[in-house]
Amino acid sequence: PDTPLKVKAANNFFVGAAVSSSRLSGAYNTLITTEFSSITAENEMKMETIFTGPGTYNWTQADAIVDYAIANNINVHGHALVWHGSVPSWMNSYTGTDAEFEQLVHDYITAVVTRYSGKVTSWDVVNEAINDGGGTRNTIFLQKMGANYIAKCFQWAREADPNVLLFYNDYNTSTDISKQNDVYALIDDLKTNNVPIDGVGLQMHIKYDSPTKQELQTDVDKVLARNLKLHFSELDVRANSNDSQVLNTLTPERKLAQKMKYREVVEVYNAIPATYKYAITVWGIKDNESWILNQFNRVDWPLLFDNSFNRKVTHTGFLEGL
Ligand code: XIL
Repeated sequence: PDTPLKVKAANNFFVGAAVSSSRLSGAYNTLITTEFSSITAENEMKMETIFTGPGTYNWTQADAIVDYAIANNINVHGHALVWHGSVPSWMNSYTGTDAEFEQLVHDYITAVVTRYSGKVTSWDVVNEAINDGGGTRNTIFLQKMGANYIAKCFQWAREADPNVLLFYNDYNTSTDISKQNDVYALIDDLKTNNVPIDGVGLQMHIKYDSPTKQELQTDVDKVLARNLKLHFSELDVRANSNDSQVLNTLTPERKLAQKMKYREVVEVYNAIPATYKYAITVWGIKDNESWILNQFNRVDWPLLFDNSFNRKVTHTGFLEGL
């Protein structure tokens, strides 16, 4: 049988999975504790779950995930403090002043980071602030807090915990070069202004044939050149295609290409210097529960385990990259 992922990657970097608090027992528990050395809340440490109203917080699900990790000696990566995709509806319709809105975001970041200080190793502080095709994403945070909002969020997170690792996280930076340029311009700007940032998360929601290994390496090198830690933070590899050739069953050719893409991704990560390594996190466990199926509204097989918790050839591909 294949070696567990975390065993082969031990002493090198964490191998993580996105989880939910309702899927931590039974076969999930067995699989998570066997294969993974890190977990991330797929949704339950986002604003929409925690921030129930001005100054009110619901910690139930986030606590369950963090407590589970501590009980099982598993690392936690926190995701994500500020993301346009998880703004509570009460915030979207907030009628206070911009200064009051900013104070709410400050208090939220302070409360969350403080609560999990010493329990969570790292946070995605700001997620997806750059548009596809480049330019600053026009979010409620930009509108109410101004262009400096990203720097402010990192500073508030650092004030709440001097030791936690602070990441900027984004997607499609290896293939969308305008976006790539703007992401690294943003990071350079943060660094020039001495904003506390420790690393970059490249989400890695990718396809069986894209990005190429060279495109990926170029992107990775841009993170390392800035002396920042690198997290492959939300890895899944679509076996299906955006074009007209949507598959209803996985062909042997596509299955092999997908396995090889997993292997390439891990090879690129594994080859970076130890000081820049942190974790590769896969975005889910079982294929049938992957967000990709909803996101693209079609069948796919993007993960490492099938619907019965069995290891797939993608798992072998991951191991071969180590
Ligand atoms: C996704 C979750 O997987 C879904 O369950 C949820 O409905 C929406 O969010 N980029 C991110 C993640 O940073 O937080 C997203 O997670 C996927 C895209």
